[in-house]
Amino acid sequence: MSQNDTSKKIDEKLQGSTTKYFQATENNKKVYIESYGCQMNMNDSEIVASILLKQGFNTTENLDEADLVLINTCSIREKAETTIRNRLKHFNKLKQYNPNTKIGLLGCMAERLKEKILDEEKLVDLVVGPDAYRDLPNLIDELADGRKAVNVLLSKEETYADIEPVRLNSNGVSAFVSITRGCDNMCTFCVVPFTRGRERSRDPKSILHEIQVLQDKGFKEVTLLGQNVDSYLWYGGGLKKDFVNQPDEVKQKAIDFAGLLDLTATRFSDIRIRFSTSNPQDFSLEVIKTMAKHSNIAKHIHLPVQSGSDRILKLMNRKHTVAQYKETVDAIRKYIPDVAISQDLIAGFSTETEVDHQATLDLMDYIKYDFGFMFAYSVRPGTWGARKLTDDIPHHVKLRRLREIIDKQQTHSLYRMQQFVGKEVEVLIEGNSKKSDKHWMGRNSQNAVVIFEKTAKEQPGDLVKVKVNDCTSATLFGNRI
Ligand code: SAH
Ligand code: F3S
Repeated sequence: MSQNDTSKKIDEKLQGSTTKYFQATENNKKVYIESYGCQMNMNDSEIVASILLKQGFNTTENLDEADLVLINTCSIREKAETTIRNRLKHFNKLKQYNPNTKIGLLGCMAERLKEKILDEEKLVDLVVGPDAYRDLPNLIDELADGRKAVNVLLSKEETYADIEPVRLNSNGVSAFVSITRGCDNMCTFCVVPFTRGRERSRDPKSILHEIQVLQDKGFKEVTLLGQNVDSYLWYGGGLKKDFVNQPDEVKQKAIDFAGLLDLTATRFSDIRIRFSTSNPQDFSLEVIKTMAKHSNIAKHIHLPVQSGSDRILKLMNRKHTVAQYKETVDAIRKYIPDVAISQDLIAGFSTETEVDHQATLDLMDYIKYDFGFMFAYSVRPGTWGARKLTDDIPHHVKLRRLREIIDKQQTHSLYRMQQFVGKEVEVLIEGNSKKSDKHWMGRNSQNAVVIFEKTAKEQPGDLVKVKVNDCTSATLFGNRI
């Protein structure tokens, strides 16, 4: 992957994406939604759009005509929050022309800053945390009365199981389906457990129903989403941490992630199933075997490692060692030889030495990841890392280490892509290539982007065979067979 491609991937992960359209003819109000951060946030915006659609709001791409401007936010790194503050300032300038427009902050930054952002910065009218979107209709009523409105309560049960998301920016081929919310892991660098609350799983019946609806609409791929999907556990509702206290008959009927994956892949044999994100500590042999058993489960695992040093992993409160991580990867490759594995890595966590950094580079050499998302450590207020450790790695050192990690990833990505050259791959067509409407863009099972010339025979949503004849570190090029 070239440097540009890598930063583009990271940018894509970070940049805001705006809602394109959804229209119900009887609706007369307009909401503009901009989403930042993880895929879960994109899916949450689709849930919000669904709740608001019933309240008389159609989505719009045009800020000028919006009655309500919502920004669904990310707190994962300081830069993400800075970007959002700048957008809020921009929205407030527009408010000079449309004084009745209301501005709302959703998601992780809303949860992290709570009322403070109303009082201190006066940039927003509405603050709603990730578990409080059902309350939006009431909160919007409060705004109509000229008040500011806040709901940042976190929930033990909320999974929005019964809400059918309005698919925004949809290519009609691929959709996200959330299966868990929250995270119990408390990695010491991470703000997510504070902003998204305790972990809970969604009723498998509602997951299967949502996929059925997608299939009926012609979708061909779903990505099961959660902060830690491998920790999925349905035992009738409630927090994951309370499972241990359940009676035996409840425990015996519980469905874990391997069970859910098996159910989904069996029921929807024509749908390609992806999932993200996997945590190495919870990634089980059962999941590996289930992936190997079903050809419609995509052969790609996003398995963030964060660091290749045991000392740093321990300080990060990651629950695995480097040796255990390697064992997991070895087992995955044994059962699924053609699997793609991707990573998240953090450069310059507190106390990281050059020896620790070298251990990360060594681990990368061992795994040779297909691709990855790499970040300089950004200390987040309230986390254990912020409270107990000193952010002692100078910025320029973090950036140099990050550069070395990205360069190595680029070499490995190119190596992995080269392995497809000369071979046939199965591609699910997502739509036109960005650069040319004479070419299709799709992905193979390993999540590699494939570009090939159109023939008269295919359309988006088709699964076609392509012979690969060239590649970059981020893209395969070929011809339809
Ligand atoms: N389990 C989650 C992880 C969320 S955060 C998921 O579903 O993706 C995504 C990635 O951001 C993490 O894996 C980590 O590599 C990175 N990250 C999290 N907190 C960070 C911080 N404080 N500084 C830099 N990177 C961070
Ligand atoms: Fe964050 Fe660790 Fe959970 S990275 S989302 S606390 S698994």
